[in-house]
Amino acid sequence: MAIASNKLNADFDIDSIRGQFPALDQKVHGHSLVYLDSGASAQKPNVVIEAVDHYYRNDHSNVHRGVHTLSERATVKYDASRVSIQKFVNAASDREIIYTSGTTEALNLVAQSWGRANIKEGDDLLVSEMEHHSNIVPWQMLAAEKSATVRKIPMDQDGVLDMQAFKKLLEGKPRVVAITHVANALGTVNPLAEIVRLAHDAGAIVVADGAQSTPHMSVDVQALDVDFYAFSGHKIYGPTGIGVLYGKESLLDAMPPWQGGGDMIKSVTFDGTIYNDLPFKFEAGTPNIADAIGMGVAADYLLDIGLEAVAAHEHSVLSYALSRAAERSEMTVFGNAPDKAGILSFALEGVHPHDIGTMLDHQGVAVRTGHHCAQPVMQFFGVPATTRASLGIYNNRQDIDRLFDGIDEVMKMFRR
Ligand code: ALA
Repeated sequence: MAIASNKLNADFDIDSIRGQFPALDQKVHGHSLVYLDSGASAQKPNVVIEAVDHYYRNDHSNVHRGVHTLSERATVKYDASRVSIQKFVNAASDREIIYTSGTTEALNLVAQSWGRANIKEGDDLLVSEMEHHSNIVPWQMLAAEKSATVRKIPMDQDGVLDMQAFKKLLEGKPRVVAITHVANALGTVNPLAEIVRLAHDAGAIVVADGAQSTPHMSVDVQALDVDFYAFSGHKIYGPTGIGVLYGKESLLDAMPPWQGGGDMIKSVTFDGTIYNDLPFKFEAGTPNIADAIGMGVAADYLLDIGLEAVAAHEHSVLSYALSRAAERSEMTVFGNAPDKAGILSFALEGVHPHDIGTMLDHQGVAVRTGHHCAQPVMQFFGVPATTRASLGIYNNRQDIDRLFDGIDEVMKMFRR
């Protein structure tokens, strides 16, 4: 199929964006790199790399702990990053933005702090079938501790959440609904605002995994009315090792701290400790200052480009990929939800996904193969693993053509 224009959106200059990501400009096994693994971790634009580099070269010191100039500079930048993140998800206050090491830690924080304080024996916790392990296992651990029950919200063959089954499960008055906004192994975009409305009517809180949504679409936690929303810096083109838990202030205020140590206290005596205000109550120890600053810059970068333009561009590239997949009888696509973002998860008849991944790599095309930390999704489709091409803002239709050229080579090899 001929390559269509890359000028998919007048406001979105794909060539300029590609030029801002130095890692894309390299050869892998003699081929120019095609990076289709942003769902696992996105590449970094110069502004993020330079912000982290500049911070370490000029400003580094500990935050909230010193009156000297470097400590003040570091503190100003660190605190400013939280305001960037607040804007990024339209939280009502920067007190609602808790820094964690990533989505996984954020979800564990909710299960361990809110969950241990609020869940009791016999309670139901609803968890969707398409979750990443990070939004399943913390709830299983909590359920085991509290003698509560984790119940599965099923999905259908297209990877769409079964809303009728969900409504039925809500009749059991669960306390928690744990749901991904975008499913990492399938790309399904769940109707989060509707899920939240139904859950609230039934008396449950909603804990959403935003790791795969935040890179691809505009997220407004107030419009969604979601109670907790977790995401990672490295998937929104920021550094690794930093992530966010958004929580409604009233919920966070009422929750006990999770870890004890520096920054989460106001005063300590051997008679007792007074905890710090939000957000610091949940941030024990010296924080990940440089990466928080980098993540704030990444959030600003995406807001400057415009998440609507990002979504439109990626949707166009994904539609092109899906149309090319539809031409291949040997290819099965997992996840055919009408509302889908950023992910093409597939199998090739007669070829193991790891062989596909290795052969694509030899042609310079980076994809992820495996269970994608979503084994229940693999069990549902009866496969051990899939090959997953996942999009970032820098991908274009030529990248998709290179993927399909690579798939042609794989099929030639395995049909010999
Ligand atoms: N959770 C990341 C992924 O889906 C690592 O690949």
